[in-house]
Amino acid sequence: MNQQPFILAIESSCDDTSIAVLKGKRVLSNVVASQLIHEDFGGVVPELASRAHMQNILPVYLKALNVANVQANQLNAIAFTNGPGLMGALLVGVSFAKSLSIALNIPLIDVNHIHAHVLAHLIEEDNHQNPNFPFLCLTVSGGHTQIVKVNAADDFEIIGKTIDDAAGEAFDKIAKLLNLPYPGGPVLDKLAQMGDGSRFTFSDPRNGFLDFSFSGLKTSVLYFLQKEIQKNSNFIHENLNDICASVQKTIVNALINQLIKAANSTKIKAVAIAGGVSANSELRKQLNELNQKGFDVYVPSFQFCTDNAAMIGIVGYFKFLNRNFCNLNILPQAKF
Ligand code: KG4
Ligand code: ZN
Repeated sequence: MNQQPFILAIESSCDDTSIAVLKGKRVLSNVVASQLIHEDFGGVVPELASRAHMQNILPVYLKALNVANVQANQLNAIAFTNGPGLMGALLVGVSFAKSLSIALNIPLIDVNHIHAHVLAHLIEEDNHQNPNFPFLCLTVSGGHTQIVKVNAADDFEIIGKTIDDAAGEAFDKIAKLLNLPYPGGPVLDKLAQMGDGSRFTFSDPRNGFLDFSFSGLKTSVLYFLQKEIQKNSNFIHENLNDICASVQKTIVNALINQLIKAANSTKIKAVAIAGGVSANSELRKQLNELNQKGFDVYVPSFQFCTDNAAMIGIVGYFKFLNRNFCNLNILPQAKF
């Protein structure tokens, strides 16, 4: 094929129903329907997520084609997230992808959601530089925290990871202790911007050479709050900005510290961030400082940080080039 392929990509692993259309490495549309219903429950309710995906997927598909100004019969392949994620949520996207593949008689491409967060860096945009291989990617989302050495589009080495909670999960769980609404990460970030991050000290989430452990941090914040509330029942309210800033600084310092260690030990100076937590303002600030210390830092556009289908599409594009398709009998995988 001389022309760039049109890939339709589907993401439904958690609480965002998203469909994108790519032409080659360029995104023509990237429609995301976020499920607000989970806010009432303080976390994602799997059964409700599956139902919302069922309701959203057809309108999101039609809008993605419409915005891209592409007809279904122009598509060359269907890429979809087949894991990791919530099984019922994945099933909706996988079944929709299979139906389209049969109806349009075009190949099906299975995509690992975590690889997609990393390869989002290879999406082509105006005025945006893409990293060359090899590069390091700090993937920080609600479900994952990893430092990955990316050797090629299909060659990933995990060199650091969390041994328990993910960084986003830590933000969300600590925000819940502070009675903030779900998802807590962005709210805590906003409050932290008006606080003093050096006021309180919590347990360090670094673990071993390049790993992390965030469950101890959550416990340390919990015990700290319980102790302070005994002395002053208004403690959270009166110190909210400083608590948020101190928690945020503890998490981000650990992330950046391990990333620098990974860069030094691999001698790779190109570092990227991916996943929902890469929207965090303190993380972005500290990464910018790395830029001034001789690192090449790559931060994806905001719309490609949190869960979205364009990142599924870029993996689909590389697999399409290698004719790396899957069969119709493929099953989603909750864990990898
Ligand atoms: O990648 P993502 O959209 O979904 C997956 O988990 O795959 O990441 C969502 C996570 C949530 O935990 C959310 O609280 C966190 O990213 N997050 C943030 C910020 N924006 C989103 N955490 C800290 N600061 C932010 N600004
Ligand atoms: Zn994600």
